[in-house]
Amino acid sequence: MSGQTPALAERMQHIGLSPTMKGTIAAEKMRREGIDVVDLGAGEPDFPTPAHVTAAAHKALDANFTKYTANMGTLELREAIGFRYREDYGVSYAPDEIIAAAGGKQALYHAAMTLFGPGDEVVTHAPGWPTLLEQIKLAGATPVVVTTRVEEGWALTADLLLSAVTPRTKAIIVNSPGNPTGALMSETEAKKLADEAAKRGLWIIVDLCYEGLVYDSVPHNLPKIFGDVMRDKLVLCGSASKAYAMTGWRCGWVLAPKAIVAGCNALQSHESSNVNSITQKAVVAALTSSQDCVAEMRAVYKQRRDQVIEWLKEEPRLTCAVPQGAFYLYPSVQAFLSPSVPTSQAFTDGLLAKEFVVVPPAEAFEATAAFRLSYATSLEKLREGVTRIIRYANSLPLK
Ligand SMILES: Cc1ncc(COP(=O)(O)O)c(C=O)c1O
Repeated sequence: MSGQTPALAERMQHIGLSPTMKGTIAAEKMRREGIDVVDLGAGEPDFPTPAHVTAAAHKALDANFTKYTANMGTLELREAIGFRYREDYGVSYAPDEIIAAAGGKQALYHAAMTLFGPGDEVVTHAPGWPTLLEQIKLAGATPVVVTTRVEEGWALTADLLLSAVTPRTKAIIVNSPGNPTGALMSETEAKKLADEAAKRGLWIIVDLCYEGLVYDSVPHNLPKIFGDVMRDKLVLCGSASKAYAMTGWRCGWVLAPKAIVAGCNALQSHESSNVNSITQKAVVAALTSSQDCVAEMRAVYKQRRDQVIEWLKEEPRLTCAVPQGAFYLYPSVQAFLSPSVPTSQAFTDGLLAKEFVVVPPAEAFEATAAFRLSYATSLEKLREGVTRIIRYANSLPLK
């Protein structure tokens, strides 16, 4: 019946399509029209999946490893995840404390659905990945957002997160390395937060999806620091997507106390069942073979990060903190806002319309006056993108 709103469920009034996807859709349309678009919006590695990982998938296919597996993931995969966390962080998780899901996104969603419900408040931070907020809402709980500050390099501190805790707070979600700022929670702050959370009986969920992409040898052993103090209320969510250039394969995981993993398992058993069987074999290869491929990609990302920061200095008003992780820069556009370009959304809309550069605005991350620039693309494209961004910024009217 035209003109009438279809009778969608009430929950659909509170969520919409991920805002980071909007620019990508507009850019796709331009590309179809033959326009030379520079896309610096991608939230995924530009590298191919490492050859030894795809070889394991080919082998699985040839062996007809194409049936349902255990709902939680094969024992082999869960042991491989446990092995990786033991090697990297010195923490110990048994196979029944680990479940594989279809990406870190589903891992986080199942953790949210298992733990949160109506009446609960869940504290998380902005600028931040919007999905975390939507998942809290989908679980019927209330997100409470604290804001990190550019003046402090977007540092996520225990005091800031704890300042939002009320008697209704059930959990705190920490994303480190963080999207979109690339900032890390320091080990000192993590210890402080762990001690307080343990005292107050709060859960901590750590979104570690950019683990493996930490630069400058900064210590970042959050699993051990939280685990030593409050393992019984700690949920670690990780993913093969970013570190191993496996975004399309869809594999993430939850490491948590048995009851939480059992909850995730029950949800998954009625929803999507096991992660794709071929993917599972590929991820076992990724997690248990040499980690040199991760180090090699990390070295390239670091070189790009440093180079783009240098290029951005050509326009000193585009100030940008040096991120310690992930593959994003988060330059400020504060100096360019004016009555005719009042928001970063207006800035990035104009950038797309005039210079055909795609970057998501701060508004996509519950923030203002900045945009996210992904350096998971070639130096050539990055150079072209930065040139266009600076040209556009300089064309804007002065305040
Ligand atoms: C902060 C953060 N967490 C989790 C994810 C989930 O990634 P995936 O579902 O591909 O593992 C993403 C993806 O962009 C992310 O940015």
